[in-house]
Amino acid sequence: MGEGVSIAVVGSGYVGLVAAACFAEIGHRVVCVDNDEGKVRMLREGGVPIHEDYLPELLNRHRANRVEFTTDLKAATEGAQAIFIAVGTPQSETGSADMSYVDAVASEIARSIGDYKVIVEKSTVPVYTNEWIRKVLERNGVPQDLFDVASNPEFLREGTAVVDFLHADRIVLGAETERAAALLRAIYEPLTSGAYYRTAHAVPGARSADDPPPVLLTTTKAAEIIKHASNAFLAAKISFINVVANICEAAGADVEDVARGMGMDTRIGPKFLRAGIGYGGSCFPKDVAAFRHVAEQMNIEFGLLEEVEKINAEQKRRFFRKVRAALWTFRGKKIAALGLAFKGGTDDVRESPALEIVELMLREGAMVRAYDPAAAARASETIPAGEQMQYLDDAYEAARDADAVVILNDWQEFAELDLKRLRAALRYPIVVDGRNLFDPEAMAAQGFTYLSVGRPVAHPVREAIHSR
Ligand code: UDX
Repeated sequence: MGEGVSIAVVGSGYVGLVAAACFAEIGHRVVCVDNDEGKVRMLREGGVPIHEDYLPELLNRHRANRVEFTTDLKAATEGAQAIFIAVGTPQSETGSADMSYVDAVASEIARSIGDYKVIVEKSTVPVYTNEWIRKVLERNGVPQDLFDVASNPEFLREGTAVVDFLHADRIVLGAETERAAALLRAIYEPLTSGAYYRTAHAVPGARSADDPPPVLLTTTKAAEIIKHASNAFLAAKISFINVVANICEAAGADVEDVARGMGMDTRIGPKFLRAGIGYGGSCFPKDVAAFRHVAEQMNIEFGLLEEVEKINAEQKRRFFRKVRAALWTFRGKKIAALGLAFKGGTDDVRESPALEIVELMLREGAMVRAYDPAAAARASETIPAGEQMQYLDDAYEAARDADAVVILNDWQEFAELDLKRLRAALRYPIVVDGRNLFDPEAMAAQGFTYLSVGRPVAHPVREAIHSR
């Protein structure tokens, strides 16, 4: 796969760290920069601060030869041909993305540019950010021919980020000059040519040497909008199916059938039509708000996005009311809460619907016995363990003597629970499932009262008292 490109990745959060590990995996030399000294030390010593499939393996494979960690942005910039900015763009009070970290990094990079560099936005940023970065560099005296600003948005889902990177649906490259486009193309060439998939230790996934990911080359502005529009659209799809689920509940239909039927239309597609307790995480809530703000600033009505947010907020409260209705009241009740992260497969609790629902239950006096395979430590930073809130080591422990089980995210482990064991642990066999992990009939046959989202309530099948 040739010599590889010298890359600096600024920011070693979810996006930066995964991108750095994957760039090294496809043959580049990567310096990962973060201003958090503790994090850099941990990464140097072999630690991995986030829970992400394949990430420890890739970092172990390439640490010390193709990927290094440093706090020194100046040195990293000097040695790099391409600098990927992957720092946070958190939501500000107005809903817009807070660009101060990007601004600060751009100014610092400006002070260290001695030869041509491509500066690439990797974080999700509002349209026009590339122009701002350009302005910051120019204001700091960097000559125009020494840099280009490009956009290469990521479409990584947490938990499967490495596979999403190496087996991407598409690679979007936003660039204004042939020189910048050529460097970006060279960076992704091991993937787009299919060469990576022929290597001995390639991470397995949907792509192969015969079916490599396509590249879409656009302007930087279009690339910036593609990212926001994609996430906003996916969030809209989820809110849409959630309202349809509520209609199904009222009508006595099953939303899983409805979603299947809708998804078979290739124009709609089957993905992101899982009804539940609403979307969360570090991207969708923030990106919907930021995109709405972008439209607002352009005097463009995008009320649809406000609706998407409203529906999402209501979906969580609606589920909470469903749990309450199943129990009559929360006071004095013990609830086993399965799932704390915003979805299964991650330890991330940012904007987690699960945590919000746990908080509502606590507020109404419930005792919560919570279990999540990875997110308990993070969750306890928001909701500390105490008399009302306990963190347990497995689902059956959490269920012990509980008045009901509430399922709040979709870890595979939950879908594979031994139902007999679960039932035996519970005080009352009630399961309220916010992620539709079980078949209602099977739950009824196991003796559960089973409430889920957008499907009829299933009641335990009892032996007939009088035989005919
Ligand atoms: C998302 C995007 O998928 C990714 O492309 C982008 O780069 C970052 O944001 P992520 O936040 O990791 O990734 O999670 P994702 O798997 O997309 O799920 C987001 C939320 O939507 C979760 O809370 C999930 O439970 C929920 N969801 C997803 C549903 O409620 N229904 C669905 O059908 C799909």
